[in-house]
Amino acid sequence: MEKKHHILGIVGSLRKQSYNRGLLEAALNLLPENCTLEIVDLANIPLYNEDTEKNSPHAVVQLKEKIRTANAIIIATPEYNYSIPGVLKNGIDWTSRPFEENPWDNKPVALMGASLSILGTSRAQYHLRQVCLALNMRTLNKPELMVGNAKEKFDAEGRLIDPKTKQKVGELLVALMAHAKTS
Ligand code: FNR
Repeated sequence: MEKKHHILGIVGSLRKQSYNRGLLEAALNLLPENCTLEIVDLANIPLYNEDTEKNSPHAVVQLKEKIRTANAIIIATPEYNYSIPGVLKNGIDWTSRPFEENPWDNKPVALMGASLSILGTSRAQYHLRQVCLALNMRTLNKPELMVGNAKEKFDAEGRLIDPKTKQKVGELLVALMAHAKTS
């Protein structure tokens, strides 16, 4: 029997009816065979402070372990002012420390994002790619998944309802798993 592959899905938004959470929740029903997906948000991660780094909060230690043990990671990022939300950057900064323990190193990572504008988080995703490079993640190049005009593609509860976008989420997951298996 083929072994199970575990994907960690990180939501870059804390909003209850977040479109980006909706993308990851849609992914739960679109998983390739033998894959599991756990969705986490960053609500419990305090603001990073280097003074407290040696005594990391439990939530940070837990998140680092989830990153370390995942076979692959998918990040769903909103776009805030043409970049990634501080919440997401803060979570990545915390989990990147100390440098020698970077759990992101060589990790297969896919990016996706949904926003209200027509560009669908493209500007945020290119900033995020730069951060991924800093931590030596194996970021999947293609396909890119930038979901614009989110209001039309999600219902009032933040559930993805657009069939074409669902298909693209499925395709991204397949590409991510293929990418993960090449390591
Ligand atoms: C936004 N939004 C936004 N959208 C966009 O396409 N480009 C942008 O630069 C910004 N900037 C921005 C800044 C701030 C501070 C907020 C709060 C919002 C709108 C954004 O796309 C919208 O709030 C999404 O709903 C955020 O994603 P979630 O929370 O639904 O996942």
